[in-house]
Amino acid sequence: MIPLRPAIQTMAGYIPGYQPPDIACWIKLNTNENPYPPTPKVRDAILEELGCDGASLRTYPSASSERLRQAAGELYGFDPSWIIMANGSDEVLNNLIRAFAGEGEEIAYIHPSYSYYATLAEIQGAQVRTFSLTDEFRIAGFPQRYTGKLFFLTSPNSPLGFAFPTDYIETLATRCDGMLVVDEAYADFATDNALDLVRRHENVVITRTLSKSYALAGMRLGLAIARPTVIAALDKIRDHYNLDRLAQAACLAALQDQTYFRTRCDQVTSTREFFTQELRKLNYTVISSQGNFVFASPPDRDGRRVYEGLYARKILVRHFSAPLLVHGLRISIGTRQEMEQTLSALREIGQGPDT
Ligand SMILES: Cc1ncc(COP(=O)(O)O)c(C=O)c1O
Repeated sequence: MIPLRPAIQTMAGYIPGYQPPDIACWIKLNTNENPYPPTPKVRDAILEELGCDGASLRTYPSASSERLRQAAGELYGFDPSWIIMANGSDEVLNNLIRAFAGEGEEIAYIHPSYSYYATLAEIQGAQVRTFSLTDEFRIAGFPQRYTGKLFFLTSPNSPLGFAFPTDYIETLATRCDGMLVVDEAYADFATDNALDLVRRHENVVITRTLSKSYALAGMRLGLAIARPTVIAALDKIRDHYNLDRLAQAACLAALQDQTYFRTRCDQVTSTREFFTQELRKLNYTVISSQGNFVFASPPDRDGRRVYEGLYARKILVRHFSAPLLVHGLRISIGTRQEMEQTLSALREIGQGPDT
C-alpha cells in the first residue's frame, strides 16, 4: 500500500472542462476561453524571447517577475509590492489556502461558483463550508461575523454570470475575521470591480487571470493584488520560478497593449448582449451576465437535452450535473458568427416536448 495522506487517498480530484483533441472541428464554448487570438505583440514577444536558436531557455527566468509586477502595478494603480504574479490564477488560489488555512480549519465559498476551491481545501485538509444564494443573488444566511480563515467570492460569478455590487462586497469584508478573496477572473468583462477594496481593507485579496480577457489560457498567467504583507507571505510559498520565460514575455506584451485588449473585450461583451437577447426570443431564461459567458435555461428546463443536441452538432458548451444547475447550460461567448451558428442549432433542437 502506498503511504498516501488519507485526504489525498479519498479525494476525487478536480475535473476541468473538456479540451477535445480535434479542437478545430468544434465550436468550443465550454471553458470561457476568448474566441480571439491574443494581441499579435504576444507572438512577437515570445519569438523575440526565444531568439533564433532558443538559447535564452538555457537559463532560469526572473524569479520575481519584477517587470510584470511593475506593468500590472501601473495598470491597476498599485505599487508592485501589492502584486504577485502566478502560473494561472489557480496557482495563487492554491497558495492562499496554503498560507491561511491549516488542517481542520475552515474555508468557505458560494455554491454555485468555482468548485476548484473545494479541491484545493481538500488537498490541504481544510474544512469546506458552502453558502447558498438568495433569489436576488445575495448570500443566504451569511453570519454577522464569519470566523473561517478564507472566504472565496467569485464575482462576476461563474457559472451564473451576475456580479455582486461593490458596496455589498465591502460589507462582507467587514464581517470576515479571515481573508475575503474576490476571484475576479471575469472582471474585465464587467462594469465594475472591487480593486478599491484592497486599499481600504487589509483582509481583501483580488485575484485576476489573463486566461479569459487577454486570450492567454494556454500560457497560464494570473495575479493577485493585496497588502504587501499578504503578498510577501504568498511569495514565500510559490514555486520560485513559477512563470517561465515565454509566459513572462507574453504577459508583458499583453498587458502593454491595452488598445487591443479593450477592443476585444468590447467585442465579446457586445456579442454577449446580442446572444442574450436572441436566446430570450427563443424563450430561454438567461441571467444577465457580467462575464464572457451566459447561464441559460431552455423552456422545458432540460439542460442535458440541449447539451446533447448541441454536442451532436459539434458545439461544446458546459452542462453541470449539480441539482441547482442541471436545468441550464453555461455557454461561453464566441465570435458573432459562432453565436449565430449556436442560435441556429438551438432553433433546430427546439424547445422541448411540452412547449
Ligand atoms: C472563477 C474562476 N477562477 C479562476 C479560474 C482559473 O483561471 P486560470 O486559468 O487563471 O487558472 C477560472 C477558470 O475558469 C474561473 O472560472
